[in-house]
Amino acid sequence: MPLLATPPRVGPKTLANPQPTGVGKGGSRGRKPPGFGICLCHRFGYNQTKPMGELTVFGRRIYYFRTTTSTQDEARRLAEGGAPEGTIVLAEEQTAGRGRLGRTWISPPGSSILMSIIFRPPLLPHQAHRLTMVTSLSIAEAIENLTPLKVAIKWPNDILLAGKKAGGILTEIQTSADRILYAIVGVGLNVNVKISESPLSTLAPYATSLSDELGYEFPRFILLQEIISCLEGNYQELKKGADFRAKWQARLHPLGREVTVITPTETIEGVAIGVNEDGALLLATHEGEVKTIWAGDVTLKKEVGHEQKDNPRHRP
Ligand code: BTN
Repeated sequence: MPLLATPPRVGPKTLANPQPTGVGKGGSRGRKPPGFGICLCHRFGYNQTKPMGELTVFGRRIYYFRTTTSTQDEARRLAEGGAPEGTIVLAEEQTAGRGRLGRTWISPPGSSILMSIIFRPPLLPHQAHRLTMVTSLSIAEAIENLTPLKVAIKWPNDILLAGKKAGGILTEIQTSADRILYAIVGVGLNVNVKISESPLSTLAPYATSLSDELGYEFPRFILLQEIISCLEGNYQELKKGADFRAKWQARLHPLGREVTVITPTETIEGVAIGVNEDGALLLATHEGEVKTIWAGDVTLKKEVGHEQKDNPRHRP
């Protein structure tokens, strides 16, 4: 029995003139709310709110679009206009959703979590991947808190269910001198996508969704709340200097395996032995070196030469 309500309808006013959703009891002006629920439930397909306890950063302002080019673009505009850390942009549909390395992100309308989060982190530019780490970890924890699914993370930014890509994270930063002015962390998570019947059907061997793995649809709003709640805790820890490497590595695919890594400048082979605290991949090469890799795509070596799993449309 599907749990998901019909995709919501939002009038053009919302599209042309997005408003932050209200916060729950107490409001947001001038005083800290006593914990709040996300009041976009009626728009996001669910007729309920749940108090979220002591959220102090994320979800206090949520902008919702039925359709937009990319939530990254909207979030960037908001960040440039001074929107505070924790502001979230959600969309039901993107006409120009993007992934890492210039790839396109495709998602059937009303099926997924498409969100961008504004961070103003006390990090140096080379530490920006810590935000990807903390976000992917929060998504993994949220899914495992709510479902029987096990979640792995494929370096550098993929959410895997049963070895297939169910989501990805795109972190874009704006810097000034040697600091991050703001970061926009974009999350695309296939929640209720029937991959085999979607525009992603050609990727069915490599892409999946929560509903495909669970066998039933899952309420996006509940999942969104849990992700935000996990992120709230993890981000506070990150700001206190916590090192998420061990937790992240425990989920990391393909730790300890022979891989080929295609970076923007070279192709390297070796064994993935871990990540450093900024999330760069540590690769032990056949020449006995340990290389630190900041960007690229990893493929298990036995897969290279067979069908390439990476697809420029929606990389699994
Ligand atoms: C990747 O796997 O390459 C990252 C994909 C990130 C997609 C999300 S969907 C919400 C946000 N808006 C975008 O245009 N991209 C991110």
